[in-house]
Amino acid sequence: MATTRNTLIAPSILSADFARLGEEVRAIDQAGGDWIHVDVMDGHFVPNITIGPGVVKAIRPHTQKPLDVHLMIAPADPFIAAFADAGSDSITVHAEVGPHLDRTLQLIRHLGKKAGVSLTPQTSEGALAYVMDRLDLILVMTVNPGFGGQAFIPAMVEKIARVRAMIGSRPIQLEVDGGVAPDTAALCAKAGANVFVAGSAVFKDGKYAANIAAIRAAATPPQ
Ligand code: DX5
Ligand code: ZN
Repeated sequence: MATTRNTLIAPSILSADFARLGEEVRAIDQAGGDWIHVDVMDGHFVPNITIGPGVVKAIRPHTQKPLDVHLMIAPADPFIAAFADAGSDSITVHAEVGPHLDRTLQLIRHLGKKAGVSLTPQTSEGALAYVMDRLDLILVMTVNPGFGGQAFIPAMVEKIARVRAMIGSRPIQLEVDGGVAPDTAALCAKAGANVFVAGSAVFKDGKYAANIAAIRAAATPPQ
């Protein structure tokens, strides 16, 4: 079945100047970012610490665009309500962080938010098999989570294609995150990804609009 997929670019504020976060969020919004990607890290599930619900709440008034909150925290469940209340639009948890993924996804939807699952590079797409109908978003990590600026892992292209096949006709967004730049975005798009998170490649040289446009052009399949 031929489907027309919406190509969406989600700049990650991990690469922003945290001292000017509100201004940076407005800048990536005005530069054409479709979603604002927020990387939440706990120093436990991943070896880095970033931001919490208070920061999500603080940036919320700076954009009308969806706040795409990527929780790299374990456990996730005790913090989901706080991220929902802070103004997240989608909340993505890692399949690796808890024994009851199905329950976690129900909780996110119960709070009125879009529910996502992320897979780290070593996790098989099989982890998604029995939760597909609880998902609005699948995030395939194309680096090991924890830091911006890492090299894209080519083996993930095959995983993206397998996940796209599993999605079939379901209305699930397929997002990629890590080392995404025009060249790697093109590979991911060909494999079936339609949402492209990018930190370094968007904030590079301060040319946000041109950088977003370049990723979008590379990732948009020819009509
Ligand atoms: C990594 C984060 C990514 C990161 C991407 O753990 O989830 O969102 O910011 O950064 P780049 O685009 O620089 O690889
Ligand atoms: Zn992320």
